[in-house]
Amino acid sequence: MATTPLAARPSDPLFDLRWRRALRDLRGPLARLYGESHSLQDLLARIRDMAEGHWRVRPDDLKALDLARDLDPDWFLSQEMVAYVCYADRFAGTLSGLPARIPYLSGLGVTYLHLMPCLMPRPGQSDGGYAVMDYRRIDPRLGTMDDLQNAATALRSEGISLCLDLVLNHTAKEHEWAEKARAGDPRFQAFYLMFDDDTLPKDYERTLIDIFPDQAPGSFTFYPDMGKWVWTTFNEYQWDLNWANPEVFLAMLDIILDLANKGVEVFRLDAVAFMWKRMGTTCQNLPEVHDILQALVQATRGAAPGILHKAEAIVGPRDLVPYLGTGRHEGRVAHLAYHNNLMVQFWSSLAARDTRLMTHVLRTHFPESFRRAGFATYLRCHDDIGWAITDEDAGHVPHLQAHAHRQFLADFYNGTFPATFARGADFQSNPETGDRRTNGSLASLCGLESALAAGDPAQIDLAVDRITMGHALIASFGGMPLLYMGDEIGLLNDHSYESDPDLRDDGRWMHRPRMDWDLVGRIAREPDLPAARILAGVRHIMAARKRLDALAAQVPTRVLDTGHPALLAVLRAEDGAPITCVFNFTEHEQRIASWALRLDGPQEDALHGASLRWDGDTLLVPPYAALWLRRAG
Ligand code: GLC
Repeated sequence: MATTPLAARPSDPLFDLRWRRALRDLRGPLARLYGESHSLQDLLARIRDMAEGHWRVRPDDLKALDLARDLDPDWFLSQEMVAYVCYADRFAGTLSGLPARIPYLSGLGVTYLHLMPCLMPRPGQSDGGYAVMDYRRIDPRLGTMDDLQNAATALRSEGISLCLDLVLNHTAKEHEWAEKARAGDPRFQAFYLMFDDDTLPKDYERTLIDIFPDQAPGSFTFYPDMGKWVWTTFNEYQWDLNWANPEVFLAMLDIILDLANKGVEVFRLDAVAFMWKRMGTTCQNLPEVHDILQALVQATRGAAPGILHKAEAIVGPRDLVPYLGTGRHEGRVAHLAYHNNLMVQFWSSLAARDTRLMTHVLRTHFPESFRRAGFATYLRCHDDIGWAITDEDAGHVPHLQAHAHRQFLADFYNGTFPATFARGADFQSNPETGDRRTNGSLASLCGLESALAAGDPAQIDLAVDRITMGHALIASFGGMPLLYMGDEIGLLNDHSYESDPDLRDDGRWMHRPRMDWDLVGRIAREPDLPAARILAGVRHIMAARKRLDALAAQVPTRVLDTGHPALLAVLRAEDGAPITCVFNFTEHEQRIASWALRLDGPQEDALHGASLRWDGDTLLVPPYAALWLRRAG
């Protein structure tokens, strides 16, 4: 089919307006990233052509969605948003099996579905699909691009936005670009970070942090056939892309816009912290990363303003905040970012029965709200838990020592600490630092596995309460709560990966189970099962969230300094009726004075609708309770 060059076609007034808007926020970052080595005008012209090309073939229903979201750009911050995260095969067999599971998702109140990596991975080990060899094909075990498109349409018709992983930092070494680079093509060698000898790699290594010290130590790999060293931050088979090369930017943008036209509404930008390298640094969270993100987000917005970007940066608080836009990037970078610090502090407080560190960290390091952006709040995901607790933060809690606390948490959650309720496992022990990370499912880490094994009903009740309290926390803290598949029915650790040669080296598969649809079937008949109680609790919490305007992500989150060592208290307030959320991290009833919670007038619990228990002016908070207090009447 003959195509008319873009320049010769009449331009579309709506696209022109959007492009003009995008330009304002594109020039700065592109000039800083590439301005010295390339002509900015040429680069902008190429991006514009690319955006316009995709805009022209964007299906009408998606263009209508773009318009709706342009008129309501904060749509994703609504309290009605609830996300679910799953592996397509482990949840629904295949992509074509997914639409049949939509009623289950709707029953949970889900409005956003993150399907774990679906794009064509390398054969064999693939880091759970995060080593992509073809971004334009679907993993054939899951289906085809048409299946993806159909699934996206079916989801959208039920009010669910599809989120897909996009691995930006690296490709599989089997990707076409990498193979061409390996064959000696200089154009594609410039897509990666390659070195003729190990002088520079050794210099860089001095300040780099090992990500997989057990399974893939070091950040460079030598390939004798090429005679070159290649930057491989993660596994040997994942080659880091060279984002200092604008061709990489253009190639990835093209992929994003293509997938957006297939109906993908949200991109989970994987491992973004690592995208820019500078000698003498950890090569994580460098300022250029935020310029890359702004340029990608704004260029996407030019062609498809309905699209969201979620940054995956599992980093300390100081480094995390800029992913949601600070300074010149405010309101211009990712729309969502994982609140891994809330997650870490949830587990820390639960083990220690002490919330002082949590209160300090969440009060000190985070703004109360962001412009046009919010956190994704979660308890578990497909990855391990890294005990990111700094000396500086621990120093604010009397007698707490960061290294010792990290050791305690690893021991508590691997099940070796005396009297622990948790059953998990160590991951990636680092002999240099002595640090270990942790694997395990939410339910097993919350004590359900040990309680069931002991057949102890009281312990089972406590485990169920911990799981529900955690869900109430992520539903009300501020942001979009992510339900990780299986957590809503309390699935335990799954050891079946140990007999699969492609999976057994990676303990994270322990908490990536298959959905237990038989159990879901039993739940309907046996409402007293722990799984049934958890599911009922999660459904109730998400439904209650949706009714409360104060829980929307744009409403500021103020963590209160109540001085209480076992409770976390969070005030959600703007113009409307404020809500004070209180969480008890212990198996004991706690007491707190109403003045310490800054409560004003008579209160009721908006989560349970039940009456509160008072002793005079002192509120009694039951074991592992979550209370959402609002003014009564
Ligand atoms: C992200 C993924 C993780 C993967 C890594 C490398 O952190 O969540 O599973 O191993 O990126 O792609």
